Amino acid sequence: MNPPSAEALPTLVVIPTYNERENLPDIVERVRTSVPSAHVLVVDDDSPDGTGRLADSIAALDEQVHVLHRQGKRGLGAAYIAGFGWGLEQGYDILVEMDADGSHRPEELPRLLAALDEGTGADLVIGSRWVPGGRVVNWPRSREILSRGGNAYTRLMLGLPVRDVTGGYRAYRATTLRELALDEVASQGYCFQVDLTLRTACAGLRITEVPITFVERVRGNSKMSRAIVLEALRRVTVWGVGLRRGRTPGRRSTVSARH
Ligand code: GDD
Ligand code: MN
Repeated sequence: MNPPSAEALPTLVVIPTYNERENLPDIVERVRTSVPSAHVLVVDDDSPDGTGRLADSIAALDEQVHVLHRQGKRGLGAAYIAGFGWGLEQGYDILVEMDADGSHRPEELPRLLAALDEGTGADLVIGSRWVPGGRVVNWPRSREILSRGGNAYTRLMLGLPVRDVTGGYRAYRATTLRELALDEVASQGYCFQVDLTLRTACAGLRITEVPITFVERVRGNSKMSRAIVLEALRRVTVWGVGLRRGRTPGRRSTVSARH
């Protein structure tokens, strides 16, 4: 018998939020329409604009929407770790990362989920801006240079076979996340994406990129900051040096590699 297709498996779309009041209702609605069977988990860091309360009121009307409240802004990476922890405990088979601001279009989610099954199957699917067919709409030139430069430096340091290693639109199998020693992840900001890609590759798991159209947000502000860029630069450099010295991050020593 064939294994069930990813689209049929219990799926949780994790959406981290910090001041996304204007964006949240729209993104939740679009996820619910695009993949009606999927559940949504909003992970809010006590947004001053009341996004957390708004999430609660959406969840009160829809049993497939859940909310995790955290105290204080503690970073995108930390929010995802908390969200994944909740989702794994609840027994979801597929865990999706998606921004709240509409940059990751829910209408493309079925394609990401389908790519988990394609070919020999993937353990992680990355929605990619920098593969043929992928693109970015409405980004300032400075932001494109930062992303392309960051990806080039990361590839050079870590040798990962991925074009968009910082991309934040992803679908993970629960089995993948269970192998990555998530409790040891220290990345707080956007380098969390690189961290988990590196861990997935070092675990010998299969990564597929599918092209996406990333649309820059229309409402609210990006939370990208100098501190986030510096954390990424520092950590990628440390990982790169570590790899050259034979250190591979994030392997639980008890798990054998899969090829
Ligand atoms: N809970 C929580 N806590 N959510 C956060 C935090 C935080 O500290 N920081 C950001 N977020 C949420 C935002 O509210 C949004 O839903 C999502 O994370 C992405 O934040 P943006 O600020 O819109 O990110 P971006 O558009 O600059 O960056 C995107 O592209 C990067 C690569 O270029 C994201 O997808 C990044 O993950 C990605 O690395
Ligand atoms: Mn954004």
